[in-house]
Amino acid sequence: MVRGTPFSPDEEALIASLEADLAVRLAAKPRRLAHSLSVGHEAERLARIYGVDPLKARIAGILHDWEKAVPDAELVPVARELGIELDDDLLAVAPLLHGYVAARTLPERYPELSEDVLRAIERHTVGDSDMSPLDMVLFVADGIEPTRGANEALDAQRALVGELSLEDLWWRAFRDGIAYVVAGGRHLYPGTVAIYNEVSARRAAH
Ligand SMILES: [Fe+2]
Ligand SMILES: [Fe+2]
Repeated sequence: MVRGTPFSPDEEALIASLEADLAVRLAAKPRRLAHSLSVGHEAERLARIYGVDPLKARIAGILHDWEKAVPDAELVPVARELGIELDDDLLAVAPLLHGYVAARTLPERYPELSEDVLRAIERHTVGDSDMSPLDMVLFVADGIEPTRGANEALDAQRALVGELSLEDLWWRAFRDGIAYVVAGGRHLYPGTVAIYNEVSARRAAH
C-alpha cells in the first residue's frame, strides 16, 4: 500500500490556513464545517491508500463544500451569472449546484489551486463518466467520512476501502447514492442516469 510521506511544514501551514478560512466561512454551520474538515482527513487517507496525491486530496476535501455557506436557492442566480448552463433539471436539483459554483469562485480567492483540485470539487456532487483518481477519492470520502454516521451501505463502503480498486469503490458509492435517492422516492437528476449508463456500458465492455 502506498502511504506516502508526511506533509512538509509548509504544506501543514497551508492546510491550517485553509481550515481556518473555512471555519470563518462556515461559522454559522458547525456541522457542515465538521463534515468538511472530516472529508479532508478522509480524502487524504484514501489518497494515501490508493496512491493519489494526498495534499491535493486534503485540500479538495477541506474546500469541497465552500459554497454551502450560501443557501441552495441563492446559488441559482450566482450560477447563472457565472455562465453555468442550467437546464431545468439542474434547477430542480439546486443542492447539486454548490460544487459547480465553487469550482468557479474558489480560484478568485485561491489562484494557486490546481485544475485537478477544482475539477474534483466541481464533480463531487454529481460525478462524471470519466472520473480521475482524485475525483473518485473526493467523491467517496464525501460519502463515508465518519460524521456521516452509520448505515448498511456506508459501512459496507467503509469496509471495502483498500479491498476494492478505487474505480470499483467509487462505482459502488455512486450506485449506492442512486439507490438512496430512489429508495426515498425523490427526484433523480437525469445527468446522473446518463453517467450511470455510460459507465455501466464501459465496464460491461471490459
Ligand atoms: Fe457537497
Ligand atoms: Fe460534502
